[in-house]
Amino acid sequence: MSHVLLDKDGRSSGLDLHNQAGSRAATASTHMKGNMIVFEGVGKAYGNAVALHTTDFTVREGEFLSLLGPSGSGKSTILNIIAGAIAPTHGRILLNGKDVSTVPPRERGLGMVFQNYALLPHLNVFDNVAFPLRIRGLGKDEIAQRVRNALERVGLIGYEQRKPREMSGGQQQRVGIARCIVYSPSVILMDEPLGALDKKLREQLQGEIKKLHKDLGTTLVYVTHDQEEALNLSDRVCLMNGGRIAQIGTPDELYFEPVSEFVADFVGESNLIEGTVTADNMVTAADGLMLAVRSTEAHATGSRVKVLVRPEKIVALDGGAAPAHLENTCTGTVVQTSFVGGMTRVELQRRSGALLLVKTISARAAERQAAGHSMAVAWSAQDSVVLKV
Ligand SMILES: Nc1ncnc2c1ncn2[C@@H]1O[C@H](COP(=O)(O)OP(=O)(O)OP(=O)(O)O)[C@@H](O)[C@H]1O
Ligand SMILES: [Mg+2]
Repeated sequence: MSHVLLDKDGRSSGLDLHNQAGSRAATASTHMKGNMIVFEGVGKAYGNAVALHTTDFTVREGEFLSLLGPSGSGKSTILNIIAGAIAPTHGRILLNGKDVSTVPPRERGLGMVFQNYALLPHLNVFDNVAFPLRIRGLGKDEIAQRVRNALERVGLIGYEQRKPREMSGGQQQRVGIARCIVYSPSVILMDEPLGALDKKLREQLQGEIKKLHKDLGTTLVYVTHDQEEALNLSDRVCLMNGGRIAQIGTPDELYFEPVSEFVADFVGESNLIEGTVTADNMVTAADGLMLAVRSTEAHATGSRVKVLVRPEKIVALDGGAAPAHLENTCTGTVVQTSFVGGMTRVELQRRSGALLLVKTISARAAERQAAGHSMAVAWSAQDSVVLKV
């Protein structure tokens, strides 16, 4: 029933926007089989306000891709352009190799799931799920069978006669998902589907959505501003910032190979140490600490950079010397320790005053990590990634 909800204004403002940096141009490979959604130079402006800068990107067939980013970064704009609810100011959209730029939403064969469920309140669960099949004119028996199948997948057999108001938020969202999968769309679009639910329920439904994606093999584009959710669910994550793609890649790539400070900061916790490139694969921090880093290839000697070190890559040295593979060492005073389940999070203050965040696997005899104690730590050059400032 996506057409009911897809009626936003999408007129062209005629603005000419320029190609952005940061998005991996997909144009060369766009016509290959296996690309389900392709954006070719797609942008959206409202008057002078640019919601989406000119963007090229591709979602592969069967892929789970998350659009992640802060509020206002353009996530829903991309999703609604795919759905046809927003017409781009310029550019082409291909769905399964076909230009759908002028195809109306209901003919695009997409399913949509919204944060606010968007169920019809006067209809019971069965009729809500049957709704998209009825408007497609399917027969009674086929409808009954398909609805049963969809309700089975989301664990709602036995709830057919309930009205939405007689169900919890999590159950209502399951109905929303059942209504989306019931007509087997080739692409499913979800805009913050778990945003209205509490943490525990969110985690449970995340697992269910992941399994559903695996079982159905459908291409799924999922909007969230929760980085953990995106990393946990997705084959690839498209991180947005200010209407541009900051980075698109596997969760692993975003976490371990961020292309910018924004990405490093948005995805996971990080130490970002300011310094200057002083030799090949060597950065000297502002306080004189010499850091062996993975590579300075892209940075000239003398240039200002930041070195990213993930807190869990830093090892506490229990009095002994650092093992040979950990080229970087420093000491500091423990400012604060917090126990977060299996990990202990230690804030260490270096002599210069700069803080270093360390996460270690929790151990019972960890008095050394109490506030005020001195602590020596080490990490490898491989885990020290140089970023432009
Ligand atoms: N109809 C509109 N008119 C003018 N500006 C708009 C309109 N719709 C969206 N925008 C602007 O476009 C930008 C991107 O909006 P979008 O809804 O895509 O953000 P988002 O990443 O989904 O944010 P959120 O996480 O808050 O949902 C925002 O700055 C927003 O204010
Ligand atoms: Mg949004």
